[in-house]
Amino acid sequence: MKVLVIHGPNLNLLGSRELSVYGTATLADIDEDIRSAADELGIEVTFHQTAREGEIIELLHAAIESVDGAILNPAAYSHTSRAIADAIRAVPYPVIEVHLSNIHAREPWRARSVTAEAATGIVAGLGAGSYVAALHAMRRMMS
Ligand code: DQA
Repeated sequence: MKVLVIHGPNLNLLGSRELSVYGTATLADIDEDIRSAADELGIEVTFHQTAREGEIIELLHAAIESVDGAILNPAAYSHTSRAIADAIRAVPYPVIEVHLSNIHAREPWRARSVTAEAATGIVAGLGAGSYVAALHAMRRMMS
């Protein structure tokens, strides 16, 4: 089973960015957590991080023939990108949206995710655990 993991804009700065919201774990730490959970679950994971909206869309499209699912943190694009939402709707595999922080407990504008409206499911507020929970959900979905 193959799962594509996409981290959106500004997530490359985790570990130094808004520490009171996101904590001290770096993106490399988070990817390590995801990889060890994936190994336990027998899932092959590939990682991408990009600041570009179009690249997120292209990554989703390029994976159509090769993955069983995707875990996507669109970051701030969650709140704005109907293009990413349409790409999620356009691909045949499940896409689980994840957020490190609880987007419902922050500024009101973060509570709406237009990309989550297209996603199979959403996990938020659990830090790296959001990605791990999404992987477990993906495993259950496929068995
Ligand atoms: C985030 C939440 C978004 O609102 C924010 O723009 C991010 C990170 C999260 O993982 O908590 O960049 O997606």
